[in-house]
Amino acid sequence: MGSDQFPGIHIVVGARPNYIKANPVFRALEQQDRFHLSLIHTGQHYDHTMSALFFDQLQMKAPDVSLKVGSGSHAVQTARILERYEAVLQKDTPDLVMVFGDVNSTIACSLAAVKLHIPVAHVEAGLRSFDRTMPEEINRVLTDQIADLLFITSPEAKDNLIREGISEEKIHFVGNTMIDSLVAFTPHFQMSNIHGVLGVTKPYALMTFHRPSNVDEESNLQKLVRMLVKITDQLNCVFPVHPRTLHKLEQFGLRQRLEDNPHFFLTEPLGYLDFMRLQMEADIVLTDSGGVQEESTFFGVPCLTVRDNTERPVTITEGTNRLIGTTYDNIPEEVRRALANPVRKNSIPELWDGKAGERIADVMREWFSGEK
Ligand code: UD1
Ligand code: UDP
Repeated sequence: MGSDQFPGIHIVVGARPNYIKANPVFRALEQQDRFHLSLIHTGQHYDHTMSALFFDQLQMKAPDVSLKVGSGSHAVQTARILERYEAVLQKDTPDLVMVFGDVNSTIACSLAAVKLHIPVAHVEAGLRSFDRTMPEEINRVLTDQIADLLFITSPEAKDNLIREGISEEKIHFVGNTMIDSLVAFTPHFQMSNIHGVLGVTKPYALMTFHRPSNVDEESNLQKLVRMLVKITDQLNCVFPVHPRTLHKLEQFGLRQRLEDNPHFFLTEPLGYLDFMRLQMEADIVLTDSGGVQEESTFFGVPCLTVRDNTERPVTITEGTNRLIGTTYDNIPEEVRRALANPVRKNSIPELWDGKAGERIADVMREWFSGEK
């Protein structure tokens, strides 16, 4: 329960994209001064560069509860979160649990809450890749089914939800909280000296890859690395490597291949401010990340998404994103094409204006006062 006066809300984070999406919502709810807020960190991500660094740079308060679940198979990680979070909920029962995105922490904490009859709000609901081999797609579909409030980032998410039988009054189009962080921290990006630190000069590509479909299979990662090395005859490449990908590069003996290339700048995962400074000035980004597809659209930087599908179609129809599939051998030609036509007409999707967190806080206020 919250205090005698205020409803209690648990804000749940677990993995890197969650901090960036949750922080603006936490702040907007705090501003309302009518909720008792607790920040719960499942510990799905735990390395300094995947967790504490973001709390520091985003100026977030330390978590009130850390479940410290760490890594494991899907079942092990999900089960550990369920077990540990249920114990927390039984001791300190909030009036609502708010979850973000599509990671294992999102579904596990939602499930623990609804089984105790605690309502769930899902931020970034309704995105669909229609590819059920992706762990994230399972997490999205299931979380949306059990959520009481569904906050969406783009209008097509509403159609997806209605098709799945979700009633319209639960759905609120509020915009994109990841873009709230981008807008709020833009002055801080300018202060990063990451280009100087790395010694990288334009033209350059910024890249991130961590989807199991690209990095877990040796033959796929081998082909991807071969093509990435090829594009260094066109431009420099900055590759902050996700821990999953680093393990795989090492396991398959591919790390050296990238490190030996003088045009390749391989780094640890970067802090938010350095990463965003690099992204806003990049000539192109290559990625399989959800967040990077959205951020590059906002910046107007061309983005090549190395996937067969995307749950974020608005970044293609309105933004700078282009899906190039996963044959990999087309990467050099796609980069050449994008660099030859650098100016693309793009617009910023509706309500990606830095105010999504405030809209969510307004809906929450009305919901608790019985108006929604
Ligand atoms: C998770 C999410 C994915 C999201 C990504 C964001 C799921 C199913 N996947 O993928 O949707 O896009 O986070 O980055 O929730 N590891 C470390 N240190 C860490 C964290 C992870 O070394 O701090 C390593 C471990 O070997 C671990 C592996 O990375 O087994 C994968 O971590 P995990 O959280 O299971 O999945 P991600 O690939 O990070
Ligand atoms: N990011 C970062 N440093 C990095 C890589 C990513 O700060 O080295 C940020 C970036 O803002 C990105 C976000 O983390 O949009 C989400 O990361 P990730 O790609 O891991 O998750 P996804 O969006 O694919 O779930």
